Amino acid sequence: MELKIEIIGFGTVGIGFLEIVNKKIDILKEKFGFIPKIVAISDKIKGTLFDEGGIDLSRLLEIINNGGSLKDYGSGFYDFEKKGALDVIKESNADIMVEMTYTNIETGEPATTHIKTALERGKHIVTSNKGPIALFYKELKQIADKKNLFMGIEGTVLSGTPVFNLIEDTLPPNSINSIKGILNGTTNFILTKMENENMSYEDALKMAQDLGYAEADPTADVEGFDALAKVLILSNVIMGGDLKKDNVERVGITQIKPEDIKEAAEEGYRYKLIGSVEKTSDGKILASVKPMKLPLSDPLSGVSGAMNALTFTTDLLGSVTIQGPGAGKIETGFSIMIDIIRIFKKIRSK
Ligand SMILES: NC(=O)c1ccc[n+]([C@@H]2O[C@H](COP(=O)([O-])OP(=O)(O)OC[C@H]3O[C@@H](n4cnc5c(N)ncnc54)[C@H](OP(=O)(O)O)[C@@H]3O)[C@@H](O)[C@H]2O)c1
Repeated sequence: MELKIEIIGFGTVGIGFLEIVNKKIDILKEKFGFIPKIVAISDKIKGTLFDEGGIDLSRLLEIINNGGSLKDYGSGFYDFEKKGALDVIKESNADIMVEMTYTNIETGEPATTHIKTALERGKHIVTSNKGPIALFYKELKQIADKKNLFMGIEGTVLSGTPVFNLIEDTLPPNSINSIKGILNGTTNFILTKMENENMSYEDALKMAQDLGYAEADPTADVEGFDALAKVLILSNVIMGGDLKKDNVERVGITQIKPEDIKEAAEEGYRYKLIGSVEKTSDGKILASVKPMKLPLSDPLSGVSGAMNALTFTTDLLGSVTIQGPGAGKIETGFSIMIDIIRIFKKIRSK
């Protein structure tokens, strides 16, 4: 069986996903019995490639690896102004729309419109984009459920390290009472460098920028906005909350000094930027992002560098901690593949 896929936003993650499809196509066919076929790719700068018969991935990846772009593929290429993302979503024969444009945590756009349009057209959606899920999860899920469509969001938290799969497929019927974790690799890298190598905050930030972990403008990471988006997703998707940005206490790491870290270490504690969500006894959902001093015995305090981790407190298993990458081209591309496989299983079980 073929699964026809359109890609909206073709940057780091989009290319990573294509590389995985190209590399694993035989395994997908043999193990699961489906062939992913990419019928369209649309990107604001690179333009749109549209081929309902299926784009030749080996050829396209070779073009990209040699410094070329969608335009160099030739047939089926359009300038974005002529055929943009919304045209593709409305016109293509895809079964699945994969949304990988930039995250906008203020408005959720343009991704929210892309997702709504795809769902209205009867397409399953998969996204690694935090904006629409942090801001409009309930509304989008309602549309998807009404139309019996799948909304895959694995890549929005911890990239391809399984979070939502674990919660939906493996942990039931546990009740999740709280979630806390390290949700931002850049800040964890900075705190690790400050503690292990006695670096100042400024030097550790510069190193994170030089290594490509932090943006030139690091505000979203160091002030906790990126972790806040993920906490909103965890609250509203897993814990059944309906929180908005202003309901979440947010403190970044910019005020932490090397002396604070040293003092904590002497007391047997370690600073981490912790995102947490908990259900109170009267059913309220409380969420925050803030630096916390964790005892060294806490599994989260052993998570160093750019790694991410989450601890779920469950009623049947107690605490379960997962650790893994929270970003990266292949790591996040893999998150998209996880959800495509889940869609295939859903379609097959009908
Ligand atoms: N990279 C990671 O490790 C990672 C991890 C987890 C989640 N994510 C999320 O995954 C998404 C993709 O990340 P990325 O790293 O691949 O970002 P990226 O490299 O910036 O790629 C995004 C692409 O989308 C394009 N775009 C912008 N507006 C568009 C529109 N209206 N229609 C079509 N394309 C449009 C951008 O073009 P322009 O350059 O012209 O804007 C860019 O090429 C983001 O939401 C990100 O937060 C990324």
